[in-house]
Amino acid sequence: MKSVKVGLLGLGTVGTGVVKIVEGHQEDLSNQVGSPISIVQILVKDRTKTRSISIDASKLTEDPWEVVRNPEIDVIVEVMGGIALTKEYILEALERGKHIVTANKDLMALHGPEILAKAREHGCDVLYEASVAGGIPIIRTLVEGFSSDRITKIMGIVNGTTNYILTKMSQEGAAYADVLKEAQELGYAEADPTSDVEGLDAARKMTILSTLGFRANVSLDDISVKGISNVTQEDIQYAKRLGYEVKLLGIAERQDDHISVSVQPTMIKQSHPIATVNGVFNAVYVHGEAVGETMFYGAGAGELPTATSIVADIVAVVKNMKLGVNGRQAQLSYNVVKLKTDEQISSKFFLLLHVDDRTGVLAQIAQVLSNCEVSIESVMQPSAPNQSSAEIIIITHQASKASMNKVLEAFEGLSSVRKIKSVYRVEG
Ligand code: NAP
Ligand code: HSE
Repeated sequence: MKSVKVGLLGLGTVGTGVVKIVEGHQEDLSNQVGSPISIVQILVKDRTKTRSISIDASKLTEDPWEVVRNPEIDVIVEVMGGIALTKEYILEALERGKHIVTANKDLMALHGPEILAKAREHGCDVLYEASVAGGIPIIRTLVEGFSSDRITKIMGIVNGTTNYILTKMSQEGAAYADVLKEAQELGYAEADPTSDVEGLDAARKMTILSTLGFRANVSLDDISVKGISNVTQEDIQYAKRLGYEVKLLGIAERQDDHISVSVQPTMIKQSHPIATVNGVFNAVYVHGEAVGETMFYGAGAGELPTATSIVADIVAVVKNMKLGVNGRQAQLSYNVVKLKTDEQISSKFFLLLHVDDRTGVLAQIAQVLSNCEVSIESVMQPSAPNQSSAEIIIITHQASKASMNKVLEAFEGLSSVRKIKSVYRVEG
């Protein structure tokens, strides 16, 4: 029984987990695929670095081409991260007939179609289960589990760092800046946490999920993105009083042929299962026309959860090798992307306004909403004795994004509205 030879690009958090699982589960793996799986070479930046696992030093190399061009290697597992260099290595490996397994959401969100086209051209597999929601098998679920259905909505907590921050703010009343610092110290957030907190990491993951779910090439530019850096303790406390939690949600929706994809801090009803997803955990809610509501929950990152998805992809590649069907995946993006206009995008909204506390102001605000055809679901003015300004909180019924933009523009021109403090999409 000839062993299947794997080359690893990267031996950091995820790469270490891959070595542990391939070695620790070897018997199960080889029983499933009919051959042993062995990691024969590993690219690292620094061969002299102390590693948390014992590794045969002769397998380590600092030369990427030694791995990419190694004729013995059948499968390259890319867990080094980055975009430009990684793309170069992967494209060359594909040209040499090697199959690719990657955890790299940045690369797949930006260059997925080009890489998958190259894979098809060379009869190779490119699998990337670990790139979204770490240990949750959501990609296989969308591609295979829901192949019989038409997905209408994907709503996900797909960034663990921001969910950790929002959970701490909600449960412990902590300030955003303090929790962000703690998340960095605990190693959840990147040293430069911008892509986590400004929603870019989640947007890249939503690019992948919506492309697979809607079977159309959604690009990062199609997604409207807003992060959590302006979410305040005040917003979270008002949300809780009204029965909501604030979560950074990726929301992809389809109506007939039109789609919209966004990432934004959203108020979600506490009774919705996604509102109960706390800490660094991820969850993806999927609604299909036939299946109705489903939800998938688990660890979105971390050494072993992420490596579980990587090794499952290696198993899938080896099974395809045995069947001789590598590179013959079905065409997954056969629909043309038609983006919804702002008139077609609709949701409920939460508004927090700082206004003059005097006669007629509430009536003026209600008039603006009425003029823009936005209906009010509930309104609250907490008492603020002895102050000249008041806070008004409004939750609207379903309204289009275009109407809400008109409302906000009109509020900007109203002298009684001192500040539009917060605007959130409301779900559930
Ligand atoms: P990491 O801990 O920083 O490890 C990166 C590894 O790649 C290290 O072993 C490093 O070598 C090596 N490396 C980086 N750049 C290199 C270069 N230019 N040449 C040679 N070697 C290089 O990263 P990670 O957290 O494991 O993440 C890896 C990938 O998985 C990323 O795409 C990430 O987005 C994705 N991912 C991570 C998680 C997670 O939980 N961490 C979850 C899902 C997806 P040295 O060891 O010598 O420094
Ligand atoms: N920075 C990412 C997160 C890591 O916080 O979810 C997993 O992709």
